[in-house]
Amino acid sequence: MRPSLLTFLRSRRSIRKFHNQRVPESILHEILETATYAPSAHGLQPWRFVLVESPSARQSLALALTNKMRIDMQQEGAREEEIHERVARSIRRIGEAPHIILLCQDSSAVRSQTPEELTMGAQSVAMAGLQLLLAAHARGLGTNWLCWPLYAQAETIRALELPPTWLPQAMIFMGLPAEEPKPKQLQALDALILSR
Ligand SMILES: Cc1cc2nc3c(=O)[nH]c(=O)nc-3n(C[C@H](O)[C@H](O)[C@H](O)COP(=O)(O)O)c2cc1C
Repeated sequence: MRPSLLTFLRSRRSIRKFHNQRVPESILHEILETATYAPSAHGLQPWRFVLVESPSARQSLALALTNKMRIDMQQEGAREEEIHERVARSIRRIGEAPHIILLCQDSSAVRSQTPEELTMGAQSVAMAGLQLLLAAHARGLGTNWLCWPLYAQAETIRALELPPTWLPQAMIFMGLPAEEPKPKQLQALDALILSR
């Protein structure tokens, strides 16, 4: 029996280990195109995708993100060894991910610059992001959504020479899964719902 759509939706997981294999261009294109079918506030489709491919772009991105990570961790009082280990691991992961898709919100593609419209823009981008994760899952690929660029938006824009209105929201690693995640612990649904 074919698994139902609901079973499919429940089976997506974050994957953090990938085989060292690239996804065919046609599949990558199909996944990005599917993401663009997401709903968006006023239908303005403010999502933008940056494919971080070349070793030099990866290196620039890794430097931008980890420099900021180092400063933030120092301010939080983290130990130097801990900072060193996290920075090294992050640089390695950015170098090794088969594909890196930086998900941005074009702040010029929202109705106005009010906090509400910008939030709706970010919500719209997140919709496209989830749709991207699910489209990848439908093709047997694993993904991991990473928040790091959100902490270093200006640094990421500079490092990748992005248009200044493309505000990085997240980074998605994608590739053939090389791990089986542990079963997921969900909160009891009853605790998440209020009826009035
Ligand atoms: C907004 C957001 C930010 C996230 N940031 C990170 C991150 O920086 N690093 C990471 O490894 N996973 C990150 N994740 C993935 C979550 O850790 C993961 O979705 C969660 O643990 C549930 O696991 P699952 O995706 O396998 O269902 C993020 C997910 C979301 C939605």
